[in-house]
Amino acid sequence: MARITMFGAGYAGLVTGLGFAELGHEVVVRDVLTDRIEGLRAGRIPFFEPGLDELLARNRERLSFTTSMAKAIDAAEFLFVCVGTPPTYSGDANLSAVWSVIDELPPGLRGVLVMKSTVPVGTGEKVRATLDARGLAGIGYVSCPEFLAEGTAVRDFMEPDRIVIGSFDDADGEAVEALHEGLDAPVVRTDVYSAEMVKLASNSFLATRISFINEIANVCELVGADIESVARGMGLDKRIGSRYLRAGIGYGGSCFPKDISFLKLLAGNSGYNFQLLNAVIQVNELQMRRPVGKLQKHLGNLRDKRVALLGLAFKANTDDLREAPSIVLASRLLAEGAQVVAWDPVADARGLLHGAEFAPTALDALRDADAAVVVTEWPELHEVPWAEAKALMRTPVVVDGRNHLDAATMRSLGFQYEGMGRSAVFPELPETEEPVERRLPL
Ligand SMILES: NC(=O)c1ccc[n+]([C@@H]2O[C@H](COP(=O)([O-])OP(=O)(O)OC[C@H]3O[C@@H](n4cnc5c(N)ncnc54)[C@H](O)[C@@H]3O)[C@@H](O)[C@H]2O)c1
Repeated sequence: MARITMFGAGYAGLVTGLGFAELGHEVVVRDVLTDRIEGLRAGRIPFFEPGLDELLARNRERLSFTTSMAKAIDAAEFLFVCVGTPPTYSGDANLSAVWSVIDELPPGLRGVLVMKSTVPVGTGEKVRATLDARGLAGIGYVSCPEFLAEGTAVRDFMEPDRIVIGSFDDADGEAVEALHEGLDAPVVRTDVYSAEMVKLASNSFLATRISFINEIANVCELVGADIESVARGMGLDKRIGSRYLRAGIGYGGSCFPKDISFLKLLAGNSGYNFQLLNAVIQVNELQMRRPVGKLQKHLGNLRDKRVALLGLAFKANTDDLREAPSIVLASRLLAEGAQVVAWDPVADARGLLHGAEFAPTALDALRDADAAVVVTEWPELHEVPWAEAKALMRTPVVVDGRNHLDAATMRSLGFQYEGMGRSAVFPELPETEEPVERRLPL
């Protein structure tokens, strides 16, 4: 069994670190945040991710947590870089946390450095050159991108679709492959550049599917088709598949928006205009705002209208609010003069959504509301007593940004219910001579 150090106790670092401990390795997790490390020592996971507490409890004796670089590298054979790589103002990758790890490594150190953080293609080559220049030629370099999805991260580690390993040196790649023994998944062994590209291309492709199905949904609304049937009919085609084919208010989170931007800019910086990605990004930006138009259709001017936002996290089963569509939507509504009352079972947006109210339950959010928007597909929303909710609301308007509720049930309860691309969404459009596209919400 190997001794592994994880740099970064975020989603990628903790899930991977705890996962490797479960496989029997001895793992040291190092972060620069003292509170985070102290909490972990006391058995507390710093964010909401199903199954992670159990993994920590089960593998305590193989895990240690530290803020100290010296303790982190002591006897370490593998150094996993799992620090954040947020976008810069220009949309390129901010690699300052990656470089701060590398700059701290003492000359003469040996082992294999494994890049889990998502980085632009070409980063491995730059890291390799820096290591060599800093007297760290004895450290091997491997790109092993992380594909976990928040909400299902533990399962994604234990049952990955594939493990991608890109190395400059075969022996280093082999050593990293051996760490994964016990996982049943195809291993793609390749060069560093290709491994880096697999990650950016995979996330950009998934985001493309989402924008594609959202555009199909928008056209469905114009022509009377129903996106749920359309997506099912498409998804059963094995060449297409059904995942990431759900219409809604767009993708968010800490990965898709930045990774697609990294790829678009990487292409641009290299002299290629990746036109398709421009469209994917633009569709997503407009999609997040689409519920505003739907609300205006029912309520007219939104000034002083009370709108309940049901769910804030960028998707269910996480408390992550990074790039969440809820933030854009809430800001748009506040700019229209609406009162926003928000509810989420785990995500706390108090520091982000200034001017919004926060309700402890979905029912509380719906009290006296002029309309509600389903923003996150939380299973809890199926437990809401909707008949009771209707009696509490001022007007029973529900815009379902995730097509999460049963349309027929909601309509039979008397709601003016609209999904995204679901049929019969405009039954009450007034007769007018105006061309149909002029009457559509954004
Ligand atoms: N979150 C995901 O779902 C996911 C999935 C796949 C890949 N990734 C990639 O993994 C990387 C990390 O993402 P994340 O969501 O875990 O980020 P995160 O922000 O949740 O965690 C990053 C952690 O790194 C710590 N850190 C910063 N500098 C450090 C240093 N010098 N030494 C040690 N720790 C340091 C931070 O304090 C923070 O706790 C990113 O590149 C991301 O794109 C994330």
